[in-house]
Amino acid sequence: MIEKIQNIQKIVNEFTPKNLEELEEFRLKYLSKKGEISALFNDFRFLSPEEKKVIGVEINKLKQTANEKINTLKASFVVNKDSKIDIDLSRPGDPLNLGTRHPLSIVRNEIISIFNRLGFIVSDGPEIEDDAHNFAKLNFPADHPARDMQDTFFISSDMNVLLRTHTSSVQAHEMSELPLPIRSLSPGRVYRNEAISARAHCLFHQIEGLYIDKNVSFADLKQTLDYFAKEMFGENTKIRLRPSYFPFTEPSAEVDVSCTLCKGEGCGVCKNTGWLEILGCGMIDPNVFISANIDPEIYTGYAFGMGIERITMLKYGIKDLRLFFENDIRFLEQFTAVY
Ligand code: PHE
Repeated sequence: MIEKIQNIQKIVNEFTPKNLEELEEFRLKYLSKKGEISALFNDFRFLSPEEKKVIGVEINKLKQTANEKINTLKASFVVNKDSKIDIDLSRPGDPLNLGTRHPLSIVRNEIISIFNRLGFIVSDGPEIEDDAHNFAKLNFPADHPARDMQDTFFISSDMNVLLRTHTSSVQAHEMSELPLPIRSLSPGRVYRNEAISARAHCLFHQIEGLYIDKNVSFADLKQTLDYFAKEMFGENTKIRLRPSYFPFTEPSAEVDVSCTLCKGEGCGVCKNTGWLEILGCGMIDPNVFISANIDPEIYTGYAFGMGIERITMLKYGIKDLRLFFENDIRFLEQFTAVY
């Protein structure tokens, strides 16, 4: 008898119905009144009391496991039948949103890549500066109105520690710290105490270029900037230089490119002039060389500095500077990085 019980137990354990009908058939065969398990209870009557003790436990166990199995299988069929989950393995998956680079990063990388081709390396300097590197070594005389050119955020009350107002401060570090010749590009954040508007912000980004060697001329500077403008804005772009003033360069110039929108015809963007200002530049002032212990009789050099926001706005026709800092996904996702 024990053998019979074990056989049925094995069948119960291995039973895997495909549907509710098969399950019901199984239930009738084993657990209905005339089923095989019920039949075991009939045979049970003829056993001796000692056998009853042992076999009774076994039959009950078998009946219980069979019932449990049928109930759980039944539940799983019912759930599948009623729920609307149909698994379609050919359906396309949910789209994964890939991030995009910030437009300022795209343009910064593009500028760097253009100057890399001319042999410029990328260098870095601190955003918290002292007066010496942001002003004094760059030939801003003490108490001279030139210091008012850029409204400064001071950190220390003696006005010696400040947030750099331009990336020209990196020049001051490099000239006294790096071996000559130097050909470098310094991108980074700069800070000015200005009211935030569509055209100005208290935080923005600049890229500084610096080239110091023997016999560097103004023609080299102009040629380099012409190459840059054509690479950045297209091969038909023209540049023009207007005399200007910066304490650390002499002579100094401001550089315009032919309007990226009207190509020089005159439009609203260039205020009908046909030109758009993109950067400041000049030959390094001998006083700056002297502050860095470089002999201006032997070395010459040029520097230029441009606002990354400005270049990005011109390149993409963006009209409000504040968009760069608001992190509005509808704005940012329009830029797909090439760089
Ligand atoms: N530092 C200047 C500015 O912030 C730009 C500049 C850099 C001009 C290098 C000349 C040479 O406006």
